[in-house]
Amino acid sequence: MHSPCPYGEYNSPLKTKRNTLNTRLIAARVLTRVLQDGQSLTAALDANLPAIELSKDKAFVQALCYGVCRHYYRLDFILNELLAKPIKDLEIKALAFVGLYQLSYMRVKPHAAVSETVLATRKKPWAKGLINALLRNYQRDQEGLEKKADAINWVAFSHPLWLVEKIEQDWPEQVQEILLENNQQPPMSLRVNLSRISTELYLQQLSEQAINASAVGYCPSAIILEKPVAVELLPGFIAGLVSVQDVAAQLAAGLLNVQPDQRVLDVCAAPGGKAAHILEYQPQLKELVAVDIDSIRLLRVEDTLQRLKLKATLIAGDAQSPMDWWDGQFFERILIDAPCSALGVIRRHPDIKLLRRADDIEALQALQQNILDAIWPLLAPGGLMVYATCSILKQENEQQIAAFLATHTDAREVAIEETAWGIKSGHGRQIITGTAAMDGFYYARLVKLA
Ligand SMILES: C[S@@+](CC[C@H](N)C(=O)[O-])C[C@H]1O[C@@H](n2cnc3c(N)ncnc32)[C@H](O)[C@@H]1O
Repeated sequence: MHSPCPYGEYNSPLKTKRNTLNTRLIAARVLTRVLQDGQSLTAALDANLPAIELSKDKAFVQALCYGVCRHYYRLDFILNELLAKPIKDLEIKALAFVGLYQLSYMRVKPHAAVSETVLATRKKPWAKGLINALLRNYQRDQEGLEKKADAINWVAFSHPLWLVEKIEQDWPEQVQEILLENNQQPPMSLRVNLSRISTELYLQQLSEQAINASAVGYCPSAIILEKPVAVELLPGFIAGLVSVQDVAAQLAAGLLNVQPDQRVLDVCAAPGGKAAHILEYQPQLKELVAVDIDSIRLLRVEDTLQRLKLKATLIAGDAQSPMDWWDGQFFERILIDAPCSALGVIRRHPDIKLLRRADDIEALQALQQNILDAIWPLLAPGGLMVYATCSILKQENEQQIAAFLATHTDAREVAIEETAWGIKSGHGRQIITGTAAMDGFYYARLVKLA
């Protein structure tokens, strides 16, 4: 649970002069947006990274922010041990996390970590002594403090207690593996546009660029890179030969098994990864209708489709009230990639551990049920619906489908048995986070009786 940061040695190019950019301070500001305002880490980084000139500095800020979120609960325990009373100023508290994270998890030279972090207090001189003292006290008793932290299960795994209990309740045998995986950096996976190029040929193109990667047996479009690379370095990215997408997310299109001339509905479609894949999978569709409640996120679907030279009908609408946007024509295939707790993608979004609350789950479960109930009538008799979440909680997954089947006599489950991935659950199939390098995901397949 205590892994060194792959970011490695960072010798800050930043001068220690007054008024120079301090990457630690920027990281603390980004983290304050998450801790204080409940903003997502992605949104907070998007708002702050563009002002940083050097890509090396951007990467350092990103490594600090992701690292602090990933190890937040363990760092918070250690910070509390070091303090006589809590730090009220959240930006300074975030800076303390940034300092501790460097000393505990990164290969930054300790003296640079301390001095640069202390320097970041320059607009709040009262905090200089505090940050200096607590980082030096940590250095003096690092082993003892870490031992104390690691004696408490949820602190050692750096998850909130309620979440550990929830995961343990559903997955008692896998809980430790899941918690460990949640703290790993996920691999970068690609989806090859099979309507344009084969996986073998694309792997060859990667190899010519000295990018090591491998194919995935049970998912024809998927490639996993040995190390992440900037998308601009991927051959044919701009031209639409390839997209970045986790392997688990690439299983949706195959499960839908879309045929030529079908009308397909993708509700909850933004940012459009699965919509694009469906169109690549079956270029002869009659129409793909992609709906999302968030019109800003829908713009990202538009961008993705444009890059891939694909076409869909985009609708900003609420999946709970299709009568506001549906044209009355049935769909032969429907994908519901439901809004969920996203507990299967914590390794990609470690801020979920900080932002998600225990009582969110019931609200999400109710929303998913409303969407399932509202969208089912749009499916043609004999048509197929795939329900998906990036959650590992049974409440959002197999229990949701069990309740749906109990109340819809015209629905039958089509068991997902033709495959080598995931665990067969009461209903549907569950991928546990990290298995075969995939995100945690759930799929169920339902047919409407003719
Ligand atoms: C898991 S994401 C979908 C990811 C997408 N299918 C993809 O592959 O890129 C869930 C989406 O559901 C949308 N959403 C949430 N509530 C909704 C609602 N009531 N109606 C329609 N979309 C909703 C969110 O805006 C979000 O974009």
